Amino acid sequence: MSPRITTALLLFLLFNMAWFVLYSAQLGWQGLTDTRPQDLSRVFLTDTPIANTLLALHMITGALLALGAPLQALPILRHRWPVLHRRHGYYIFALACGTGLAGLLYILMNGTVGGWWMSLWFALYGLAMLWSAANTIYYALDKDMSRHFAWATRLVILAVGSWIYRMHYALWFALTDGAASNPAFTGLFDRVQVIAFFVPYLLLAEILLRRGSRGH
Ligand code: HEM
Repeated sequence: MSPRITTALLLFLLFNMAWFVLYSAQLGWQGLTDTRPQDLSRVFLTDTPIANTLLALHMITGALLALGAPLQALPILRHRWPVLHRRHGYYIFALACGTGLAGLLYILMNGTVGGWWMSLWFALYGLAMLWSAANTIYYALDKDMSRHFAWATRLVILAVGSWIYRMHYALWFALTDGAASNPAFTGLFDRVQVIAFFVPYLLLAEILLRRGSRGH
């Protein structure tokens, strides 16, 4: 893909994600500072201060990650300012580890609102994020740029996955008024959704990456 098209797509993505980045950072901050976080959102529970703090922290690191990962992928940063790209890369790695680990610990302590099925897929999402972040850094240090690029692509998809999850819900509710979805997140749509917000995008990236590497 040409650098111009990549830049346009990434900027368009960032523009559309701005509301979610603000929402996540704000809810995380309130979750940390409010004396009764359980009044803010159903994800904060009564008498689980450690899990609540971890989840609030993951919202803040997650917001910075969702903003920082697409910025890190901008061609101008990669080609013109490699030192900045390198330094920023370590921040992205730390943010991905913080977000993934805090999310996983919350699941271990509290589970999720949608029960074991949602917990399983959210945990796989968190593990995929940790694995992609580790491989992105590893191949950068190893100077294997094609593998670094492939893992960075997967990491960017996972970094924006949380926003994709909400966009799928927004579109589905606009089109069907919430068919096959319920507040306990156990409807058919909810059950498919915990897979659909990241797995198909990773598969699509895999196809494009393979096609790209055959073209070289
Ligand atoms: C860019 C990354 C991420 C951002 C911005 C983000 C943001 C958020 C936000 C804002 C919420 C509150 C949901 C609400 O208001 O209803 C939330 C919930 C949650 N997130 Fe994340 N998140 C990210 C990545 C992750 C990852 C990688 C995991 C997995 C380990 C994870 C696990 C969870 C869990 C378990 C909940 C509570 C789910 C529930 O019981 O409903 N998040 N996240």
